Amino acid sequence: MNATGHEAVPHSQSTGVDVISGQGLDEAVAGADVVVNLTNSPTFDEASPAFFRTSMDNLLAAAHKGGVGHFVILSIVGTDRVPELDYYRAKTLQENILAAGPIPYSIVRATQFMEFMDAVLSWTTDGDTVRLPATPIQPIASKDVASAVAEVAVGAPLNGRRNIAGPEIFNLDELGRVALSHKGDNRTVVTDPTAGMFAAVKGDVLTDKNAHLAPTRYTDWLS
Ligand SMILES: NC(=O)c1ccc[n+]([C@@H]2O[C@H](COP(=O)([O-])OP(=O)(O)OC[C@H]3O[C@@H](n4cnc5c(N)ncnc54)[C@H](OP(=O)(O)O)[C@@H]3O)[C@@H](O)[C@H]2O)c1
Repeated sequence: MNATGHEAVPHSQSTGVDVISGQGLDEAVAGADVVVNLTNSPTFDEASPAFFRTSMDNLLAAAHKGGVGHFVILSIVGTDRVPELDYYRAKTLQENILAAGPIPYSIVRATQFMEFMDAVLSWTTDGDTVRLPATPIQPIASKDVASAVAEVAVGAPLNGRRNIAGPEIFNLDELGRVALSHKGDNRTVVTDPTAGMFAAVKGDVLTDKNAHLAPTRYTDWLS
């Protein structure tokens, strides 16, 4: 955003701003035209809805008081199609709180970040084996997410959603094999439709061929 002449000011707990306690929020949003909320719950479990409810209530109140004209959040493609998962329900809750709030808004829904694969692989690793379901995934590089969010943030509020996604769709087990092989990691991926968080995903709801497609391919990103 700074490159296009806008002044983007990052905040998080490391700069003394806490979206849960509300500490520093009024000062952080003072004078801002747009608030972009990229915060995340520390866990993906049943505590995550409370994180998104409290953080959105606090941020919307501060932004409204400060006269902010556009509020942007980053959500997940297909989040409302996976109600079995606490975290995906929490992201849908976050979207609904924003849409019901007093400020013109935009929801950018992204597919899974390429940077997220290491965590996904670690969740279901047991010794030399990683169990992964064949869930279709359309990974996107976080730098492409940043560009897409910045573009939306400086535009007129969508008062709706925009989907962004990487250029290629992989089955998650295949993606795991590509990631491990590129790193020379000796773990073996075993296809297991019951393994890990993505086992709850039915069909291809986390992908969107009609999304705004980002340029970075997974193997180029790995390189
Ligand atoms: N990862 C994915 O594949 C993916 C895909 C689609 C959408 N998204 C969405 O994108 C957003 C960011 O995800 P991410 O994976 O980049 O998350 P992340 O790496 O965990 O980053 C979360 C950020 O939130 C900040 N934060 C956490 N608690 C806070 C608090 N109480 N007060 C102020 N700041 C707080 C952290 O601050 P510190 O830096 O100070 O710790 C950190 O900068 C999330 O809303 C997520 O749902 C992620």
